[in-house]
Parts: sequence; C-alpha cells; structure tokens
Amino acid sequence: MRISPSIHLTALLACIGTPATCAPAHASTIATRQGKFCEKTFPAPADDVIKARHDKFVDAFLVKKDIVETFTYIAPEYINNNVTSPDSAQRALDFLSRVWGNQNITIHRTRYKENYSWLNYAGMAGNNIIDRYRWEGGCIVQHWDRGEVWPTE
Ligand SMILES: *[C@@H]1O[C@H](CO)[C@@H](O)[C@H](O)[C@H]1NC(C)=O
Ligand SMILES: *[C@@H]1O[C@H](CO)[C@@H](O)[C@H](O)[C@H]1NC(C)=O
Ligand SMILES: *[C@@H]1O[C@H](CO)[C@@H](O)[C@H](O)[C@H]1NC(C)=O
Repeated sequence: MRISPSIHLTALLACIGTPATCAPAHASTIATRQGKFCEKTFPAPADDVIKARHDKFVDAFLVKKDIVETFTYIAPEYINNNVTSPDSAQRALDFLSRVWGNQNITIHRTRYKENYSWLNYAGMAGNNIIDRYRWEGGCIVQHWDRGEVWPTE
C-alpha cells in the first residue's frame, strides 16, 4: 500500500505527528469520510473465508481502487509499518482517498496463505512493490512493505 514517490509512507508518518503540514491545499474542500472498518470475530473465520476476503480486498484495492471498500477488510487498529497511531486505519483511509485514484496499477501477482496476503504490483511508487498483510479474526490488522520478498512455498 505504497503511495507515490513524492508522498510516500514517510509523508504519512509526518501526517500523524503534524497533520496540518501535510494536508493538500484543497484538503479543506474534501469532507472527512468516516470509514466502515472490519470487525474481528473470535474464533476467526475458516481459512477459505479469509481467502475469499483476500480476493475481494485485492479487487477493491488494486482493481477498483475503491479505498472505502478496501478499508472494510481492515480493522480500525490497523498497524501500518512504523505507524503506531491507534486510529491509523482512519488516517490511512483519509490519506489514500486523496491519492490512490490517480495510481496506475499493474498487478503482477497476489497470494493468500495462512493469515498472510502478499500483493506484488507496479504503481507510481515503483515497478516491483511487494506489500504483506497479516489477517487476524478475519480482518487485516498489519502491513509491511519494506524489503518484502515473495514467499517461496
Ligand atoms: C521503520 O522505518 C525505518 C526508516 O525507513 C526503517 O529503517 C526501519 O526498518 C523501520 N522499522 C521497522 C520495524 O520496519
Ligand atoms: C495513467 O496512465 C494513463 C494512460 O497511459 C496516462 O494518460 C495517465 O497520465 C497516467 N496517470 C498517472 C497518474 O501516471
Ligand atoms: C490464523 O489466525 C487465527 C486467529 O485470527 C488463528 O486462530 C489461526 O490458527 C491462524 N491460522 C494459521 C494457519 O496460522
């Protein structure tokens, strides 16, 4: 879930600390949208149910680029690597809603296995982006995109 070269994760991190410094000039004209996030269940859904959610998540995020739907698969306490704000799902939604629609995405491959999703695609941030997501209770709760390698098995 990387952004663009100029507005990368570091910018998102900066936004957490000092929101006023990173808001686009037109931000005041965009109403903040309260996200409808994923509610975890215990016990977790069966693995094939999570796999089906993974497929829908990939479709929403990379094919439809529908950020609001994307976040219906993400828990409110979503931890973006290095981002520890407790409301980071809402902040990530606010940020991605502004920039993600302009991304030209080419999907290379996607994979779900035992509570982890991997997405490999080309976007404005690079030709070989690999995102890894961890599922818990049927929802995505954490994300990594630094130095990720495709699983070999
Ligand atoms: C956090 O970001 C820094 C700077 O990019 C990176 O060196 C570090 O590995 C990251 N920490 C984790 C836990 O990924
Ligand atoms: C996306 O691709 C289209 C068609 O190649 C191009 O016109 C457009 O400028 C690209 N958008 C971005 C943000 O790179
Ligand atoms: C997946 O995570 C759930 C908790 O959300 C856990 O109960 C289950 O054992 C995990 N499955 C695997 C294959 O690790």
